[in-house]
Amino acid sequence: MSLIFRPLFEKESSTYTYLLADSNTKEAIIIDAVDETQQRDIGLIEELGLDLKYIVETHVHADHITSSCPLKQKFTQAKIVLGKINPVDCADILIGDGETLTFGEFALTAMTTPGHTDGCMSYVVDDKVFTGDALLIRSCGRCDFQGGSAEKLFDSISRLFALPDETYVYPAHDYGGRTVSSIWEEKAFNEMIGGGVDKAEFVRRVNAMELALPAKIHVAVPANQVCGSKIVSD
Ligand SMILES: [Fe+2]
Repeated sequence: MSLIFRPLFEKESSTYTYLLADSNTKEAIIIDAVDETQQRDIGLIEELGLDLKYIVETHVHADHITSSCPLKQKFTQAKIVLGKINPVDCADILIGDGETLTFGEFALTAMTTPGHTDGCMSYVVDDKVFTGDALLIRSCGRCDFQGGSAEKLFDSISRLFALPDETYVYPAHDYGGRTVSSIWEEKAFNEMIGGGVDKAEFVRRVNAMELALPAKIHVAVPANQVCGSKIVSD
């Protein structure tokens, strides 16, 4: 058996979606699927003959709308997965730290990594970690909404840095076209926390980020709290 692994990209919000599957059983998971690219993702899942078991979110996103609900309507056996600390009713599984989901011979293990939002999760599969917006390539998530906390993010990234150095880091976004990093690389070179930056300095740096609110935040957060199902209004 081998791992089918397909990173996918949504260009409007620079979001990565990750499709993973066991090549023998065809059981599959998708991480952070985006509304705009749902037809592409459905097409790939069908083309590869995959049996989608889990639709996984790293967190309730503020910058794009998830395609969790539409994917579940298409692949009715699939279960929507979010971290335990999220104000959502639409998830089938609220996953906690250290809990695993299996697909074929492979397993996804959840790690709670709050800080960007209070409900943020990272997921380890094999030699890969999907870090959502906790740890980005050379950067990290902002902490100024959805229960964000720079102090918690420091502790979360410290947990991620305890993974083996060779672990590949796959974030939820990259705004510069980079696709993958590694734990050792981020420990050494991350511009927010690399090179042994201490907690006080990290918090200062995060709080000094001056970022406009995501353009879609007032639409995306409520939509994602219902897993991207259409909100009917009159
Ligand atoms: Fe985010």
